[in-house]
Amino acid sequence: TTAQIGVTGLAVMGRNLARNFARNGYTVAVHNRTAARTRALVEEFGDEGDFIAAETARDFVAALERPRRLVVMVKAGEPTDAVIAEFAPLLEPGDMIVDGGNAHFADTRRRERELRESGIHFVGTGVSGGEEGALHGPSIMPGGSEESYASLGPMLERIAGKAADGTPCVTHLGPDGAGHFVKMVHNGIEYADMQLIGEAYHLLREVGGLTPARIADVFRRWNTGRLDSYLIEITAQVLSHVDAATGEPFVDVVLDRAEQKGTGRWTVQIALDLGVPVSGIAEAVFARSLSGHADLRAASRGLAGPTPRPLPEAEADAFADRVEQALYASKIVSYTQGFHQIAAASAEYGWGVDAAEVARIWRAGCIIRAAFLDRITAAYEADPGLVSLLSDAEFAREIGRAQDDWRAVVSAAVAQGVPAPGFAAALAYYDGVRAERLPAALTQAQRDYFGAHTYRRTDREGAFHTLWGGDRSEVDA
Ligand code: 6PG
Repeated sequence: TTAQIGVTGLAVMGRNLARNFARNGYTVAVHNRTAARTRALVEEFGDEGDFIAAETARDFVAALERPRRLVVMVKAGEPTDAVIAEFAPLLEPGDMIVDGGNAHFADTRRRERELRESGIHFVGTGVSGGEEGALHGPSIMPGGSEESYASLGPMLERIAGKAADGTPCVTHLGPDGAGHFVKMVHNGIEYADMQLIGEAYHLLREVGGLTPARIADVFRRWNTGRLDSYLIEITAQVLSHVDAATGEPFVDVVLDRAEQKGTGRWTVQIALDLGVPVSGIAEAVFARSLSGHADLRAASRGLAGPTPRPLPEAEADAFADRVEQALYASKIVSYTQGFHQIAAASAEYGWGVDAAEVARIWRAGCIIRAAFLDRITAAYEADPGLVSLLSDAEFAREIGRAQDDWRAVVSAAVAQGVPAPGFAAALAYYDGVRAERLPAALTQAQRDYFGAHTYRRTDREGAFHTLWGGDRSEVDA
């Protein structure tokens, strides 16, 4: 027998992806650098489907039907290059290498270009949903050639997570790095969602005066409404968990220094290069790095600030409702920014990414899955040329209704000295994009003053310079 697909790299994501293929009726060749892992997989899960255990790279490649479909599930970066270098010489034109790791899209573009010369399709593919998702149905974000998707698509559709309407959460996003780029922005949005949830929790605790257990109830309530999402659901679970060793709320015994593997940071780095304001995602990344600077925080602990005065118990529910509005509005802004970034990259690299499709495949399987994504899908389906999610009539109406509470929550955070950079940055973005005039005019004038950088006028075409050091007359630049 030959395998329809092969998976190399059998750490938890690779192993579960291989099992998912097997459970869906495919014969799966499995391979790992250390063969013990390959044997362990087949011993433990061999009865779930048809596996072919390959000890060597050569056996692995020989086990695959042609054109070969080879899924690489190793660490992003050098390990991926090493695996490609090992397998590419054993492959033939038409074969496909699917990289399912969290690769940087620029690496994916490079690898795709290099392998294309020998006729091998390199398919950089985002896979989201953690280990459970990989096993039961992840959201899958492939880039690469049309031809490769024609071959891989049906298999990916089988193993992908299914949205409530039954459609699989996978689509061909575009050539070369499009898939990994979309996955990267997914992770950036994931960071922003997590930060906003963190701020909501912090405010409910410090200003609302609620215990973690009560806050868990609030999140559970929110999860039945428009905030219905995986991250809200697990937040309620985490907040109601009690540490066995101490009897304290679990959240109180976890060290408050957030870590990151890099995809959120990349999102912001690349947004800077593209000139796209992703302030919500940026604040989320910076909040993680601030939390990690133990020395800085220790040295700053004595700085003056207001002592939060929790609201009277009778006002806690009303405050929680306002925080829900602030969270929802800020969430709309971070998705607006993320989709802007995808559109900008798509234009820059000629990918033709369909925003409605991106929202559609994020509805299930992935970490940011949420009821809210149905709405984004509908917004882009109704108007594929939508300049901004905020210009969708329904989102505009909703955020408009939320704004009073949103401002009240940001004000309360500022007044009581509770950091809410995500809420505040999102609100500043909202006020920035809707402003009739911005102080950018003054910035331009200053640039012209000190560096003759020139400016444009509101009333005439052209570039101008004022002779600031002379008689202050204006000249054509
Ligand atoms: C997913 C996750 C996954 C990973 C995160 C964690 O979509 O399944 O995003 O890719 O768990 O990248 O990222 P940090 O370690 O950077 O928080």
